[in-house]
Amino acid sequence: MKILVENLSEEELKPLYEDPNQLGFGRIFTDRMFTMRYKKGMGWTDARIEKYKNFSFDPSSCVYHYSQEIFEGLKAYAGAEGQILLFRPEQNVKRMNRSAERLVMPTIPEEDMLQAIEELVVAEKRWIPKAPGTSMYIRPTMVATEPFLGVHPSSEYLFYIILSPVGAYYKEGFQPVKLYVEDTYVRAVVGGVGDIKTGGNYAASLLAGYKAQQMGFSQVLWLDACQHKYIEEVGSMNMFFVFGNKLVTPALTGSILPGITRASILQLAQHLGYETEERPISIDEVIEGINQGTLTEAFGSGTAAVISPVGSLYFKEKDYVINNNQVGPVTEKLYNTLVDIQYGRTVDPFGWVREI
Ligand code: COI
Repeated sequence: MKILVENLSEEELKPLYEDPNQLGFGRIFTDRMFTMRYKKGMGWTDARIEKYKNFSFDPSSCVYHYSQEIFEGLKAYAGAEGQILLFRPEQNVKRMNRSAERLVMPTIPEEDMLQAIEELVVAEKRWIPKAPGTSMYIRPTMVATEPFLGVHPSSEYLFYIILSPVGAYYKEGFQPVKLYVEDTYVRAVVGGVGDIKTGGNYAASLLAGYKAQQMGFSQVLWLDACQHKYIEEVGSMNMFFVFGNKLVTPALTGSILPGITRASILQLAQHLGYETEERPISIDEVIEGINQGTLTEAFGSGTAAVISPVGSLYFKEKDYVINNNQVGPVTEKLYNTLVDIQYGRTVDPFGWVREI
């Protein structure tokens, strides 16, 4: 694919963030973005890396009314020898296309999407932070731009990629977070769109998340929509429960996002000698495990969240504390091994890391 690259003058470049240790998540954006347009009958055209700026869309554009929108999240890491490393980007590209198919949006040739990600990251490499725990978050997005109020798949789309230098997703960093187990609202249903990355899943989660945050919790832990019994995910993370030497994570039933970090942890854990199980796990089993001391640790996983220890679960007006609200050894081992692979500090036995 031919990508037109806009040159920016020195004056047009933004000043870099001042303190990379204070980046937080998703508030700072780089100088340039990638854009590409689709029209039915013409396919994808006009690939360019251009100045980061506002878009102008017709107010009737499909995306504003019926939420035909999908996105991805992956990261670029600064390696110790100055190399730029992407973590399993091919998986994000494949998932983006699966999301596109589910919402009747056009797919993008995998090699083109990868090329767009790589060329943009390289063009913006001065923005990749080097401080411990920081990286450059990559957000590919597709929106439906046809100006028409009928409910139908749009005939026009914009695909774009923006970049954001980031630190930890949660203000707690690698300290345990407190989760509110939601038993009234639900995130997604089997047969719906909970297993793809579309904004609607996150919009649907906002009210419960807001209420939980008002009560002092970091996030909501969702239960299944039918029985309010089985653990689903956190919205920003998949969940893992540690029973001694065994890791249990909810099976992908169709309403849970198939996390790339989740899949990587399953493989990594097996490699490190842990037993793993993907199966339905009920909130009752989790609480019984906490009460009996057999559930020794819990953590969430995601691109933004990386591996985030869970210190307590609040369910039906009771607080269940896990591992004394401390980071456990299994969580720590998996976290350290995963980030060492991502930053190129250790051998990558899986071929996950792609140097660009
Ligand atoms: C990611 O982890 O990349 C996500 O898209 C989750 C989002 C809540 C930041």
